[in-house]
Amino acid sequence: MEKLKVGIIGTGGIAQLTHIPSLKRIEGVETTAIADVNQEKLRYVGEKFGIRYTFTDWEKLLETDIDAVIICSPNALHAEQSIKAMRSGKDVLCEKPVCLTSKEAEDIFSVADKTKKIFMAAFPRRFSGEAKVLKPMIDRGEFGEIYYIKASYLRRRGIPGLGTWFTDKKLAGGGPMMDVGVHMLDLVIYLSGAPEPEIIFGTKYEKFKDKATDGGWPPLETRVGDKPKGKMDVEDLACGFVKLSTGATLFVEASWAGNSETGLKASLFGTLAGVSMPDPQDPQSPVRIFSENHGVLTDVVPFMPPSDMYYEEMAHFIECVRKRKGPITKRREIMAVVKIIEGIYRSAETGKPVILKSSK
Ligand SMILES: NC(=O)c1ccc[n+]([C@@H]2O[C@H](COP(=O)([O-])OP(=O)(O)OC[C@H]3O[C@@H](n4cnc5c(N)ncnc54)[C@H](O)[C@@H]3O)[C@@H](O)[C@H]2O)c1
Repeated sequence: MEKLKVGIIGTGGIAQLTHIPSLKRIEGVETTAIADVNQEKLRYVGEKFGIRYTFTDWEKLLETDIDAVIICSPNALHAEQSIKAMRSGKDVLCEKPVCLTSKEAEDIFSVADKTKKIFMAAFPRRFSGEAKVLKPMIDRGEFGEIYYIKASYLRRRGIPGLGTWFTDKKLAGGGPMMDVGVHMLDLVIYLSGAPEPEIIFGTKYEKFKDKATDGGWPPLETRVGDKPKGKMDVEDLACGFVKLSTGATLFVEASWAGNSETGLKASLFGTLAGVSMPDPQDPQSPVRIFSENHGVLTDVVPFMPPSDMYYEEMAHFIECVRKRKGPITKRREIMAVVKIIEGIYRSAETGKPVILKSSK
């Protein structure tokens, strides 16, 4: 089998910790080229992983004969880099959040259609044990009608890359809703069959700028040569209340800092069954499915299949590239997530709900 050549744009935390090591584990795949504006980091990563070509200009990376590109740059660059990569004949795995606006998402999908290139969004929770167990059950109708959905990702005092692009609105597009809320939103939208958002009401707060500390991500050893500017003009907490096309209601909350419990969790309420997905880091609180059997209320704690989320995500992308098959992340799901986040921010800024479609 001919070697599949991959290029990576942005050689920071996610590239160094998960993507390059995952690619190394897949037979017949090579990380051939990397690009980063930070020359010191570029050299460090190139030497550490033995990568053949390094570029400070990501457009030059697209001129090489690589087959696929993984986009791991600051959020505001994702759309342009994905579009140019597909136009130059490369398949794309793009880090979350896929882009900042629904217009950018439409442009990405239109180019994917024209170029017939694969476009996958990096949402590792799709490969979690709970997603593997619950998705087939929900698709078979075992939960009935899902009418209430909660998704939450909360931190106490942890702002990622405080003062770097993460906290610069122009480069990040937003704070925790864009950064981590997006993971939980994607998970519940995927599990519940991609309902479309119709009415969105959101709020956001900036209360912890001066109190919070750097959140430990990206890991310090991956920040070689980074020069934080110290700016923070994004929220530290945002939440949204969304009426979906199925009639269901979704509540989502995300914080980088606050006086609250912490962790990531989600719940789905269905007419036949419901589920609570507590923080996967907490072994004391397993996933529980709530239903009724023979007139008796029952809780089921499903056995979780093993999951190596980031590796499985990469293996899936490579399989899609090799077999020319559509990825697990469907455009309808991606669009719903992008529109919800866009709507939460717009509503938070105007103080008014965002109405995308007249609701029944
Ligand atoms: N899927 C996940 O669980 C997960 C986890 C962390 C980060 N991410 C996403 O991955 C992306 C990168 O995050 P990170 O944590 O690795 O951040 P990071 O700051 O560690 O890395 C980003 C890199 O991009 C480089 N960069 C900036 N401008 C560039 C340009 N014009 N061209 C090329 N490179 C440029 C920076 O120098 C930096 O090295 C973000 O979109 C983030 O949301 C996803």
